[in-house]
Amino acid sequence: MNITRLQFSGFRNLEDSFIEPCEGVNIIYGDNAQGKTNLLECIWLFTGGHSFRGAKHRELVNFESENAAIKMNFYSQERDQYSTIDIINGKREVTVNGVKKSSPAEMIGKFCAIVFSPEHLTLIKSGPGERRKFIDGAICQIKPGYAALLARYNQTLNQRNALLKEIRRQSELRDTLSIWSERLAYLGAHICFERINYMNKLKINAEKFHDGISRGTESFDIKYSSTWGYKDHTKIEEIQNSLFKYLDEGYKTDFQNGVTSYGPHRDDIDIFINQKKARTYSSQGQQRSAVLSLKLAEAEILRSSICEKPVILLDDVLSELDAYRQDYLINEIKGWQVFITCCEPYAINEMLSGKSFRLINGKIAEKKEKI
Ligand SMILES: Nc1ncnc2c1ncn2[C@@H]1O[C@H](COP(=O)(O)OP(=O)(O)OP(=O)(O)O)[C@@H](O)[C@H]1O
Ligand SMILES: [Mg+2]
Repeated sequence: MNITRLQFSGFRNLEDSFIEPCEGVNIIYGDNAQGKTNLLECIWLFTGGHSFRGAKHRELVNFESENAAIKMNFYSQERDQYSTIDIINGKREVTVNGVKKSSPAEMIGKFCAIVFSPEHLTLIKSGPGERRKFIDGAICQIKPGYAALLARYNQTLNQRNALLKEIRRQSELRDTLSIWSERLAYLGAHICFERINYMNKLKINAEKFHDGISRGTESFDIKYSSTWGYKDHTKIEEIQNSLFKYLDEGYKTDFQNGVTSYGPHRDDIDIFINQKKARTYSSQGQQRSAVLSLKLAEAEILRSSICEKPVILLDDVLSELDAYRQDYLINEIKGWQVFITCCEPYAINEMLSGKSFRLINGKIAEKKEKI
């Protein structure tokens, strides 16, 4: 799939305008604070997700404007389509091909993209929550029912946690805990099953990309890590039984803490470079390469799932990568529609055909095409 036109009005610092990107590489360049990331953020919203910078809807509207209106024309499933997003009173109103949708989540799967931004380095640097968010978000793009499954799990988890606190006051409620443990183990097992399936694909693809980006000098590995004894279970029932056992036997700890200690909400993904934990031992460039490999792997899995290439958004990806790693990346993404932001376009301009857009203070100041 590819974007043919993107129009924006009242969005962040971007001056009302439009761009008509090419099918290949599109470079968005300019000095710091000119609006490059804002432009990628604008595109990303059409995936149906929230801002990848964690911004609230209201923050996306220009300081001087009441509302923001963005429109994207894109080619997908062998036809021209379009989608609009209006941000009014801090809420998003969306349409796809002229049909109003009741929630932005209904856009998921219509327009697909993957994004890499410096914020995503938290995937390695931060705690397990960021890694769970990454894997869950990636699965949501290919399995529509997964978001609902997560929501049901979280609801059940909250109910079990509330009960744990209530048991302190009314000990006779203790007998009802196992009902919630069973329900949680059932839902949790389905989440783990999806995550592990996804991780297997992610591992194969990310290993390949990391091997390429490091010229075969570094090994890459990821492992699902749980606090409740997940080993290499392949059947949902096995996962469910193991999780239930921990929930059931661990009730004393849960009871003391007033929260559920075991389950997918506490799980993690360990990322290794050269058999060492990337978070602890890897350099900045290695960490960036590892995140990039995961993101490219995500794009590849999405491509095979939707039978189309998703759009790739790369924000400030080239800094901290040496010339070889930059070159590998540029070559690897040929054949996909890509948007790359950077301050200096020279290096990329030398290597690629495509379009470039220069941003000055939110204004598209220059458009160039290289064939
Ligand atoms: N709602 C808004 N209204 C107006 N301006 C905004 C709004 N939100 C952010 N900005 C401004 O947009 C500017 C550009 O932000 P952006 O993150 O896109 O810069 P950038 O070109 O990616 O810079 P860098 O190279 O440093 O990453 C910032 O100076 C910020 O103050
Ligand atoms: Mg930026």
